[in-house]
Amino acid sequence: MLFRNRFLLLLALAALLAFVSLSLQFFHLIPVSTAKNGVSSKSRKRIMPDPVTEPPVTDPVYEALLYCNIPSVAERSMEGHAPHHFKLVSVHVFIRHGDRYPLYVIPKTKRPEIDCTLVANRKPYHPKLEAFVSHMSKGSGASFESPLNSLPLYPNHPLCEMGELTQTGVVQHLQNGQLLRDIYLKKHKLLPNDWSADQIYLETTGKSRTLQSGLALLYGFLPDFDWKKIYFRHQPSALFCSGSCYCPVRNQYLEKEQRRQYLLRLKNSQLEKTYGEMAKIVDVPTKQLRAANPIDSMLCHFCHNVSFPCTRNGCVDMEHFKVIKTHQIEDERERREKKLYLGYSLLGAHPILNQTIGRMQRATEGRKEELFALYSAHDVTLSPVLSALGLSEARFPRFAARLIFELWQDREKPSEHSVRILYNGVDVTFHTSFCQDHHKHSPKPMCPLENLVRFVKRDMFVALGGSSTNYYDACHREGF
Ligand SMILES: *[C@@H]1O[C@H](CO)[C@@H](O)[C@H](O)[C@H]1NC(C)=O
Ligand SMILES: *[C@@H]1O[C@H](CO)[C@@H](O)[C@H](O)[C@H]1NC(C)=O
Repeated sequence: MLFRNRFLLLLALAALLAFVSLSLQFFHLIPVSTAKNGVSSKSRKRIMPDPVTEPPVTDPVYEALLYCNIPSVAERSMEGHAPHHFKLVSVHVFIRHGDRYPLYVIPKTKRPEIDCTLVANRKPYHPKLEAFVSHMSKGSGASFESPLNSLPLYPNHPLCEMGELTQTGVVQHLQNGQLLRDIYLKKHKLLPNDWSADQIYLETTGKSRTLQSGLALLYGFLPDFDWKKIYFRHQPSALFCSGSCYCPVRNQYLEKEQRRQYLLRLKNSQLEKTYGEMAKIVDVPTKQLRAANPIDSMLCHFCHNVSFPCTRNGCVDMEHFKVIKTHQIEDERERREKKLYLGYSLLGAHPILNQTIGRMQRATEGRKEELFALYSAHDVTLSPVLSALGLSEARFPRFAARLIFELWQDREKPSEHSVRILYNGVDVTFHTSFCQDHHKHSPKPMCPLENLVRFVKRDMFVALGGSSTNYYDACHREGF
């Protein structure tokens, strides 16, 4: 319990730092009166982060700001923290793509005017932005598995296309890449200067936003990399389950989870009222408005400081936004309690976790391949992995979220290997279900690799509650 609290506190502190650096007035969407206790944003800036001033975790505007992940000053992170006698062996990075244009439009409204070209005189900016564009224009199809080779390598539409990565999204991942470069390459020398193609493993789903996010991170990590040494594999499934995607029981968990979600929505009369009001404003049936998933588009307005849309009948406003966002937070809370999503996640995340421990085990045998692995993915990829690992307190993956597995070797006991798990720079190793108790008996600030291996090979299935002890049986359990 103590450690769970400490975890929350760490997350809260990180969040507060991000928040304080933002200044509430940045967003004209937020009435200044929302500042709590009459504290103006100016005096807020000056005070030291204090957990007491942390807004309640359910503040929808605060949560939405974290989700936007607007690039600001260099963040603090705990990647690469280890005692001197530990050697970094390999690193496995899972990212969500950066800030993107909405996937859905609010019916009968003008879509937000956001420019997806990359230009220096627009915020947010990164010093490597122009060099990134110029390097991307030298790329060739040979570096990408089909059908990735038909995708543009950087965003380039004056009015963003649906789902397109924005400049904010590129900058977020250039920053991620640079941060990982400083820690893993400059400090820990994970790769030699003349690294070879087989030391890096790259995989992405077939969307331009994931490919471009992966490229931006890679460029920040290895500026001006040699295109001939780069090969991005294509992953058709958002679960990254490759050849092991068929799993009927996982789908049954998902159906039950969706049913739970539906029932919770029906219970929320304020939410229904809000959808009704918004439907009236845009003049479509409530059902159609709801099906258009308006929160996705509203988050884009919110993150980009663009006013919510108006029609002759009125405007979509901050109150609507807060109600829908609050419901999302409630939904996540119930999702944790009911555990259906956990069942889905344990089965959904198994293949990619299995692949990752396979890579780690090969590295412990001294193989020098795939020492840096990057999976460029989606919220629906990271979320099940977090849940499967037991990180249920972790926030929903924000834009450009990163989840990292580090593999370390103890130089004093070279046969011993350990892992660290980091989510958005926060060390969450001892919050995972496979390492919760470990720190109580060991002075090492890491988790033995065996714990993770045992979890992935067996304990994940035991956690499902049936008698299965392997993936195939757990996926085909009768009478579930
Ligand atoms: C947000 O929009 C408002 C109104 O359009 C503007 O006054 C303000 O400067 C904008 N903030 C930023 C940081 O762009
Ligand atoms: C797990 O990985 C091993 C190789 O490391 C592989 O042989 C096995 O088929 C994988 N299992 C699943 C269910 O993906």
